[in-house]
Amino acid sequence: MLDLPFNGTSSSAAQTERFAAALSARLEPGDIVLISGELGTGKTTFVRGAARSLGVSDQVTSPTFTIGQRYAAAPPLDYVAHVDLYRLQSLEHEDPDLLADYAGPAIITFVEWPAVGLERLESLGRIALHVTLAHRGGDERRIEAA
Ligand SMILES: Nc1ncnc2c1ncn2[C@@H]1O[C@H](COP(=O)(O)OP(=O)(O)O)[C@@H](O)[C@H]1O
Ligand SMILES: [Mg+2]
Repeated sequence: MLDLPFNGTSSSAAQTERFAAALSARLEPGDIVLISGELGTGKTTFVRGAARSLGVSDQVTSPTFTIGQRYAAAPPLDYVAHVDLYRLQSLEHEDPDLLADYAGPAIITFVEWPAVGLERLESLGRIALHVTLAHRGGDERRIEAA
């Protein structure tokens, strides 16, 4: 378990996965984690490490044809959900239930590019953590969590 606010530097994808696992120790079913940062900073890598630590055995990859993906996880969780809102400019013209499958009392939800969905997400669960990743040259990444 890591204290919040957390500030760290990662020098590899594996290390980012380990930070994600350590930060996930404080999550509870129903929690939503927002993950911000430019392309390639390691948002999906972070979700991969977090998901594994929460009992997901399937390989976590970026959602391609849908905005999200659910992975079976360890009890008491039903799923870890991974949502990526990168392609959406707004939720205004989307199905109101767009995010409904990806958050709930027995789900922990990780959201990349969360800004457009923030209001909707806040109504679906507790925003437990906001993680921000930034490039620091080469394989180094700044990781902040609060
Ligand atoms: N310190 C690091 N943390 C996370 N990813 C890293 C790091 N160093 C190199 N990488 C690489 O950067 C890429 C990050 O990709 P990804 O996690 O899909 O980013 P995002 O989802 O933010 O676009 C991967 O190819 C990963 O192996
Ligand atoms: Mg990604």
